Amino acid sequence: METKINLLKEKLNQELKNINDSKSLYSLQSSYLGKTGEISLMMRELGKVDKEERPKLGQIINQLKEWAISKFFNASQTIKLNELLSRYKNEEIDVTLPAKSQKYGSLHPITLVTNELLDIFTGLGFYVYEGPEIENDYYCFTALNLPKDHPARDMQDTFYLSEDLLLRVQTSAGQIRAMEQNKPPLKVVVPGRVYRIDDLDSTHSPMFHQMEGLVIDKHVTLCDLKGVLEILAKKMFGEESKTRLRPSFFPFTEPSVEVDVTCCGCGGKGCKICKNTGWIEVLGAGMVHPNVIKNAGLDPEIYSGFAFGVGLERIAILKYGIKDLKWLYENDVRFLSQFKI
Ligand code: PHE
Repeated sequence: METKINLLKEKLNQELKNINDSKSLYSLQSSYLGKTGEISLMMRELGKVDKEERPKLGQIINQLKEWAISKFFNASQTIKLNELLSRYKNEEIDVTLPAKSQKYGSLHPITLVTNELLDIFTGLGFYVYEGPEIENDYYCFTALNLPKDHPARDMQDTFYLSEDLLLRVQTSAGQIRAMEQNKPPLKVVVPGRVYRIDDLDSTHSPMFHQMEGLVIDKHVTLCDLKGVLEILAKKMFGEESKTRLRPSFFPFTEPSVEVDVTCCGCGGKGCKICKNTGWIEVLGAGMVHPNVIKNAGLDPEIYSGFAFGVGLERIAILKYGIKDLKWLYENDVRFLSQFKI
């Protein structure tokens, strides 16, 4: 029996040497110490042994069991530690490696210009109103002092959806709606898309963006208009820039003006952008025509006001030096990603 035990010890020692993972260690352990394991079977065989020898042999087998248990315990400590170390090694993170770069989106230049203008005007106490893009004839023309047979209706070529409905050709359509909704004193800006029949080329597009401004109160003068436009020019194009008003014509304003700002390409000295004039035309404006005030249900004897309409594409082109209007509509990421805030 003792030789049997010694052989078993030797066998276990040998087999343990070849084991280096917990799974095989566990199955080896059961093959010795499990219910039907070799040591357990030995215990059972005690029954067949002579009575006198039984206690001594029992003790020896118990010692063997203890010995095996501690052998397996030690082996499992070493194996677990090794497994942990190799896991650490495999999952090692090199914190000195450069991070994976993330691609962030950017705002469209028209959105940037819109936001900037809205910041300026809300800072001056204007509120924002968005009228519908599908307008009716009344708000887009008739109420703006452009009756049906008025020759000025030919100024823009309109997309008609029906006899009465059309895609608005100007954000001025928002003027009457804003006046109907809020009583003066009124300071409002109307940003949005406008549509005119035009082919897309480097300077024209059938859809573009405008922002309308409207101020209605008692005793509003052309001076107030000039003051607001000067703030606009300075904030948009820099403290140095100046504004200039030139007489013009719009049916819904009287007097009407075109507004020029100092050329941002040359600071007024004259260059290719301003065709050597030193000035760039940026918007149309004027004092709201008494008929328009009347059409909104207000008394032009009491109220006066000014209005202006800025083309946002034009501002973006000047501000960012964009050479072709088409680039604003092609959604080419190489172009758009340059406009990071
Ligand atoms: N609506 C005019 C345009 O589209 C601009 C404008 C707005 C002019 C308000 C005067 C007053 O060109």
